[in-house]
Amino acid sequence: MSSKKKKVSQQTYKRRRITALVIMIVLVAMIVALAISSCSKKENDNPKGKTNPSNSDVITTDNNDNPDITINTTNPPVTSAPTVSTDFSATNPDGSDKVQSIELTFYSCELEMGETTMPYVTMLPDTADLTEKWESSDESIATVDWLGNITAVKAGVCYITVTSVDNPMVYAEIKVSVKDENGMIPSSQTSEPATSAQNQENLNQTSTTTITPVNNNDGLTYVQGILIANKTYGLPEDYDPGLDSETETQFNVLAQAAANEGLDIWLASGYRSYDTQNRIYNNYVDSYGQASADTFSARAGHSEHQTGLAIDVNSIDDSFAGTPEAVWLENHAHEYGFIIRYPKGKESITGYKYEPWHIRYLGVDKATEVYNSGLTLEEFLGIDSVYQD
Ligand code: DAL
Ligand code: ZN
Repeated sequence: MSSKKKKVSQQTYKRRRITALVIMIVLVAMIVALAISSCSKKENDNPKGKTNPSNSDVITTDNNDNPDITINTTNPPVTSAPTVSTDFSATNPDGSDKVQSIELTFYSCELEMGETTMPYVTMLPDTADLTEKWESSDESIATVDWLGNITAVKAGVCYITVTSVDNPMVYAEIKVSVKDENGMIPSSQTSEPATSAQNQENLNQTSTTTITPVNNNDGLTYVQGILIANKTYGLPEDYDPGLDSETETQFNVLAQAAANEGLDIWLASGYRSYDTQNRIYNNYVDSYGQASADTFSARAGHSEHQTGLAIDVNSIDDSFAGTPEAVWLENHAHEYGFIIRYPKGKESITGYKYEPWHIRYLGVDKATEVYNSGLTLEEFLGIDSVYQD
């Protein structure tokens, strides 16, 4: 009896040891599985190519409304740029993802006549429609085919642009310099940027009650010392000042002030040339028709971005409205010399739908006057904004 009891007890003991071993193995397997799943989740939380706004290498779009150059608020301005936005949630009206950025493997190149090259393009998010549109600013200098093959034709400088068909606000440019027989590149015909002093002189002109626009010999229209670009008053095709340095400096001060309050305001689109605006506008016309495009995109020669005194911030789309950054901008932009140029409910006066992201530099005094008046710039100056045709 005693021996049987002992035997049973030994068997039970053995079974318990096996059970304990199995439980331990299962527990170890579960811990390993949990660790693996946690690692892969971290990777998924950081979508491919998504750029960190605090990364100094990150550059965002412009030339938007839209795309020229964009810089992170904490970093120095960058003058050539891929288009990268941090808003990956933006969608098209049908719910599909909208292209947010284009990056290229290079943004400038020097070619011999007859030579070809092709940049590698990365558009994000990769769930969007990634159709590209390639264009050359001067096909007599370099051509580009629908795949992005660039061929140098004759000596000179031109720009090759790749635009997202899905979101024409997102594009990137490559400066192509084609060497002549002696290996030289003919200098480009770009005019000198306007100096801050010149701009400040314009802004400092004494305000008067006159509402007569002053059309200078150079084809620029000023009212009360303010350079006007709207549907009524255009800019010459060759007016090519680049982003005004004072505007840029003041924007950086504004962005820093916002950052001090925990807000992230970044330059998404600054200066846009006549040609850039032409391309953007025409792309919108192709996508939405002229009547619709005219409500949110300026025709070439009529964009404030060509003055070098306007900046689009952040996502440049309706998702920006109502964000803490948009509210802060509405209340504080004038303290740094900017106004919200196309306010809500003033479409029939400014000629454009509400753009909480588009700010125009006027200098602190004038911007504060306009802000306190509660008027649009058109109302404040007594001018209109209507295309003649
Ligand atoms: N979106 C503004 C009106 C522009 O195109 O300049
Ligand atoms: Zn704008």
